[in-house]
This record gives sequence, structure tokens and C-alpha cells, in this order.
Amino acid sequence: MVFHMSLRSNPMLRKTHLAVWRTWRSCKLSLHSSTVCASSGPGPVDRSEELSPVSAEKPPHTPVMLKEVLHYLDIQPGQVVLDMTFGGGGHTKAILNMVPEVTVLALDRDPTAISLAQQLAKEYSGRVKPLLGQFSELEALLSNMNIKPGSIDAVLLDAGCSSMQMDQAERGFSLSKDGPLDMRMDGGRYPDMPCAADVVNTLDQQALASILTAYGEERQARKIASAIVEARRVNPITRTQQLASVVAGSFPAAVLYARKDRLQRSAHVATKTFQALRIFVNDELNELHAGLRAARSVLTPGGRLCVITFHSLEDRLVKRFLQGEDLSNLDHFSPRKQGTGKQKLVGEKRDGENVYWLPLRRKVITPERDDVKENPRGRSSKLRAVVRR
Ligand SMILES: C[S@@+](CC[C@H](N)C(=O)[O-])C[C@H]1O[C@@H](n2cnc3c(N)ncnc32)[C@H](O)[C@@H]1O
Repeated sequence: MVFHMSLRSNPMLRKTHLAVWRTWRSCKLSLHSSTVCASSGPGPVDRSEELSPVSAEKPPHTPVMLKEVLHYLDIQPGQVVLDMTFGGGGHTKAILNMVPEVTVLALDRDPTAISLAQQLAKEYSGRVKPLLGQFSELEALLSNMNIKPGSIDAVLLDAGCSSMQMDQAERGFSLSKDGPLDMRMDGGRYPDMPCAADVVNTLDQQALASILTAYGEERQARKIASAIVEARRVNPITRTQQLASVVAGSFPAAVLYARKDRLQRSAHVATKTFQALRIFVNDELNELHAGLRAARSVLTPGGRLCVITFHSLEDRLVKRFLQGEDLSNLDHFSPRKQGTGKQKLVGEKRDGENVYWLPLRRKVITPERDDVKENPRGRSSKLRAVVRR
């Protein structure tokens, strides 16, 4: 039985991606019996054996803006650092090699990444403390380790997916490699968490279009949502390449690669659809907001925070948070509400000085041209670096 969720009953809900997510969450239990990934849930999968070890010459993920991160974090010997997005461990490993006696708390929601962190903990005899969990679980995880708020010297948050996740076809993130349409960063940790196939096969057309608009900034959202609903009437959409061809089928062949990325390179028409589904499935914007709040709480006064983002939705959120804006109502991130300028800046003092953060650079930092050549995946990255007051 396919469960179709309707957002039509509440016009307010249609307006924002957060609302879509909340509605989804409230339907999660009903979905459990009808989902594609969740019901066949394989349980946690540890793929660390298939990946190159963190210490191998070619890292499983090339860290983005490494020199800049090391410069702005300015870590001193003996300090405690929190890497909120351990991934392939590239940033962590560089920190360990560069600064003596540093301890790195290594968080990631992906069990595969945490297996790599465990390997690194052995190599660096106790200087790495792996923490499996999401940003929203961080404060509880630290409290279990008796780590008090305000006691960490530097925090790195390198948002998004790792190459390990993107490159493994069976994780279902990749547009170019065929695999199950999964996209859950947590792997099988939460068996009732909907995967991308659940989303495309169960949500109604309006809800799908809202997700594509809100998270993919896709102008053809309605057309694509309609093609998905048509296609799944014939067969459920369960594979990445199946979805890519359904999306492609709603465009003339001549425009399939007509879109350009920021480097003017051709991008497939389904790229934004994949981005939107991934953000939705992993609740990435709410998680990012939770991560920034956790960073604010755990940093010691004078501690430093570096945040790397990969698309404008993330960067807007980070920028506004670091300006001291109250983002507790994430409706602010509805693209339709951008630029109204009416939100209250609760983090600001009367003289306009930010209560929580002092920027280390006014302008956002972007990768150097040579770095982009070497690591094209980092081409759209943006780094913001601040000091906790
Ligand atoms: C871009 S990669 C980090 C790469 C890493 N800096 C390196 O050098 O290898 C992002 C990582 O953050 C993790 N991640 C994303 N969102 C998360 C969240 N909400 N909570 C915990 N980990 C998260 C992903 O699983 C992924 O491994």
C-alpha cells in the first residue's frame, strides 16, 4: 500500500520546507509499513573495510580549505578541538599532525565515518575520541563524557556529504552511479527513518514540489513532481538512475546538460532534485542550526569556530546565525521570505555589536583557484570563521 501524504489541508504548511518536514515527521509511523528502504531496513552497515584507511596516502575524502581552516582555528598545543563532521578524517588528521598534544572529539552521524575515527584513535593513542551521533545529539553526548559547556577551544563544522558517501553507489547519493535510492547519512542507524525512495514514492505531488522548491531552489519543481508521480504509477522509483531518467524525461533531450554550475561546467537537470531530496531526508538545515547552537554552547570564550558550507541555503543560515539572528523559527529560511529584513536580531547589543561572535574576516572565505583544480568538489565551498565572545 502506498501512503500519500497531503499538505493541501493546511495552506500554511505548504509554504516552507520546515513545515513539510514536520508534517513528514508526524506521518513517519504510518509510513513505516509502506516504505521502500525502512521496511527492508538492513540495520547499521559498517563499510569501513571497503574504504581506504584514514592514514593511506590518498584520503577517502579530500579536506576542503585545509590551510585556511588550520590558520583560522589557530589551535595551540594541549587544546581540545571538536570536529563536528569527521567524515574521512582529513581535517582531524592534519590538526593532529600539526599541533602536539591536542585532543580531537570526532563527531559524525555516519557509522562508517566513526569506524575510521576509531582506527585513527588507535593510531594516535587516545588523542581522538569518536562520537557517533547527529549535531542535535551533541550536547547530550558531551555531557555523558562529563565535558562541560564552555570548555572546548576550537570547533570545525564542515557541512554536507563526504566523498565516501557520494562515491559509494549503494548509499544512493550519486546521480551518476546506479544504486538504491537511499541518501540517509546515518546509514541504517534509524531503521524507521524514511529514505529518498520513501519520499518520492509516498508524498503527494504538491509536497514533492514544495521540497524541490525549498531545498533545491528548482524552478521546474512542479513539472518534475508531476513526472515523478506519473512514473511511480507504473513502477515504484527505487534506484538513483531510475529517478535521474524520470527527471530527465520531463525535459527536452537538448537541455539535459544545459544547466551550468558556478564554474560554468555542465550539470545534469536532476542535480537540484537530488540535492533537495538529500537535504530533506537528512533534515540538514535544522541539523545545521542545531549544530551551530551546540558550537556556541560548547566553545570557551575566545574559542574559535570555522564553518564550511556548500550551497547557498546552508551559507545563508550560517551567515545569519553568526550575525546573532534568532533563527528558532526556521520559517525564516523559506526562500519566499528572504530579504524582508523584519526579523529581530536578538544576538545584537544596542550598539550593533554581536553578543556571541567576533568575525575573524568580514568577508566569506572561498577556496583558491589551484585548490579547486585539485579538488573540484570543493568549488562551491564557503568558509566563515569567528571567535566566541
Ligand atoms: C563534508 S564531510 C566532512 C569531511 C571531513 N572534514 C574530512 O576532512 O574528511 C561531512 C560529514 O559530516 C557528517 N554530517 C553531516 N551532517 C551531520 C549531522 N547533522 N550530524 C553529524 N554529522 C553530520 C556527514 O556524515 C559527513 O561525514
